Amino acid sequence: MKVLVTGGCGFIGSNYLHYVVNKYPEDEFVCIDALTYAGNYHNLAPVLDKPNFRFVKLDITDREGVDRLFATEKFDWVINFAAESHVDNSIKNPGIFVKTNVMGTQVLMDASLKHDVKRYHQVSTDEVYGDLPLDRPDLLFTEETPFHTSSPYSASKGGADLLVLAYMRTFKLPATISHCSNNYGPYQFPEKLIPNTIEKALREEKVPVYGKGENVRDWIHVYDHNVGVDMIMHEGKIGETYNLGGNAERNNLTIVKTILAALGKSEDLIEFVTDRPGHDLRYAIDSSKAERELGWSRKYDFDEVIKETIDWYVNHKDWIKDIKSGEYRNAYEG
Ligand code: NAD
Ligand code: DAU
Repeated sequence: MKVLVTGGCGFIGSNYLHYVVNKYPEDEFVCIDALTYAGNYHNLAPVLDKPNFRFVKLDITDREGVDRLFATEKFDWVINFAAESHVDNSIKNPGIFVKTNVMGTQVLMDASLKHDVKRYHQVSTDEVYGDLPLDRPDLLFTEETPFHTSSPYSASKGGADLLVLAYMRTFKLPATISHCSNNYGPYQFPEKLIPNTIEKALREEKVPVYGKGENVRDWIHVYDHNVGVDMIMHEGKIGETYNLGGNAERNNLTIVKTILAALGKSEDLIEFVTDRPGHDLRYAIDSSKAERELGWSRKYDFDEVIKETIDWYVNHKDWIKDIKSGEYRNAYEG
């Protein structure tokens, strides 16, 4: 079987490839990535020498390029991780989010239909459901929760999901969608809360906490997310949507204090800064459908494994240094 994985030089896509390329040596994996600022070719190092893996630099919005690749490769499965993923960037520059997240998804689905792809999977986010109040811990996002997006990022992901639903119904695209909560783990670009906090704390710089730090996220280890995506590919039912969550709700201040304590740094580094416009209060996922129908469960407990993630960044200072200096942009020479 031949599988196309898009966005494999980013955080979750690279972790996905590290997992499946080794797990399925009989299958062939092709990764396409545009190598935007968030794409780091070094993230592919653990799989680059594997005989069942290949990388092609390609933008998912390049309709002709994508069509040519599909015509030559004849993919069985397509898994779309590629996206502009940072909410703050979407507030500064929404256009690229619409282009990549919505139009790029359309390009991939058109090629999938034209070239008889057997399974298309859209990796999406819990942010499409909007937010939940802080004082109603009983409320969780289910697959039935209506879309209610807050940022240009979540609107673009929600728009793409609606397009996937439309392609399934109108053109019979054999597809599935997953909505996952906040991931943590190795290889996350240091613009996101956890690696950004670690990187700044290690340099004794101020750590920005938006607003009062009371916003809550539901943290899942990237491995557990990727096992969920893999199970959806193998066991999921075409036409279905699956929520994947961490069952680990923490507010941002707690996350930052946990990191500072683990690094032996002072809480004086915390700096409360202007809040993110439209900042979602709380995300919380009900994963019971994936647990019931796929037999999915989480391997990692947040409190037990967060130290391991922090240690990964401490032990990969060169990986961070490469990003901060911009050197990582020269990693791909093809
Ligand atoms: P990321 O920003 O780390 O990686 C995105 C990757 O996509 C990068 O390698 C980038 O170069 C590539 N890319 C961007 N635009 C492209 C284009 N036009 N063509 C080809 N490649 C392009 O993102 P991530 O955190 O790994 O997220 C991956 C997916 O998972 C996204 O779809 C995101 O919406 C979704 N998601 C993320 C989280 C999370 O907590 N990070 C949670 C739920 C869902
Ligand atoms: O919920 C899933 C989503 O999680 C994914 O779809 C997105 O791609 C991913 O980026 C993430 O979105 P968030 O906006 O929740 O992640 P971020 O790491 O940017 O911020 C987490 C929380 O921390 C959020 O409430 C904003 C806050 N924050 C963030 C940064 C970078 C801070 O307080 N300080 C910071 O420096």
